[in-house]
Amino acid sequence: MSVHQRNARVTVRSVQGFKDRGERFPMLTCYEALSARILDEAGIPLLLVGDSLGMVVLGYDSTVPVTMDEMLHHTAAVSRGASTAMVIGDMPFMSFQGDADEALYNAGRFLKEAGAHAVKLEGGGRIVDVVERMTSSGIPVMAHLGLTPQSVNQFGGFRVQGRTEEQAHRITEDAKNLEAAGAFSLVLEGVPSDLARQITGSLTIPTIGIGAGPHCDGQVLVYHDWLGITPGKTPKFAKAYAQLGVAIAEAARAYADEVRSGAHPDEEHSYS
Ligand code: KIV
Repeated sequence: MSVHQRNARVTVRSVQGFKDRGERFPMLTCYEALSARILDEAGIPLLLVGDSLGMVVLGYDSTVPVTMDEMLHHTAAVSRGASTAMVIGDMPFMSFQGDADEALYNAGRFLKEAGAHAVKLEGGGRIVDVVERMTSSGIPVMAHLGLTPQSVNQFGGFRVQGRTEEQAHRITEDAKNLEAAGAFSLVLEGVPSDLARQITGSLTIPTIGIGAGPHCDGQVLVYHDWLGITPGKTPKFAKAYAQLGVAIAEAARAYADEVRSGAHPDEEHSYS
């Protein structure tokens, strides 16, 4: 027997257990192995390899250009770093909206090739059938409704969703249908707190909020927002728990000054 006592992997059953016991839970996005290891050891149970990757790591203006290959590459890195957390791979734009066979095949690639334990899909309506096919094939699905960034062009910008009665009704119906299709959890992004409270109360599966107020069962933040690395104006909900952007810039300036003055490397950092 190994001398290392590893914690058991977080599963869809553990996530349901959080809701059943009324325990709030955190999720963070993550894009590479070293951060995955740190977050895993800090006890974050869910690591989402979000397609926000495109904006915070790859320098795109939106999540729309992100490809399957980019997502699989980063999901595999996170899977290698996380030994306890559940790793969820985000299906990129147009990898699941078209042909249903291709959607199922792409979802399977996250589990088979990238070591993910579940996939996340944005949207309701038309994709409910695809979700049903995935869950009945043994692929756990995290659903995602509200301000779904892949639809930014359809929404006409990053705008809070569910403020009109019609929108609120559609999101509520989609949530029920996705639960019925076997989704094990639901991300609610950019919706009014009251709507998130109602949906959370009406579902058996847990909701995970981002810009959806305090009533969801879990919460998620984007890694770079949470660490205060994202430059410029961030959304209202993006609470920073550190100011690493400032710290990195200060460290860069200190290093550059020391190299220019000859203070680095000193004897302590050189071989005799
Ligand atoms: O891509 C992402 O990071 C996400 C989260 C914001 C939920 O979808």
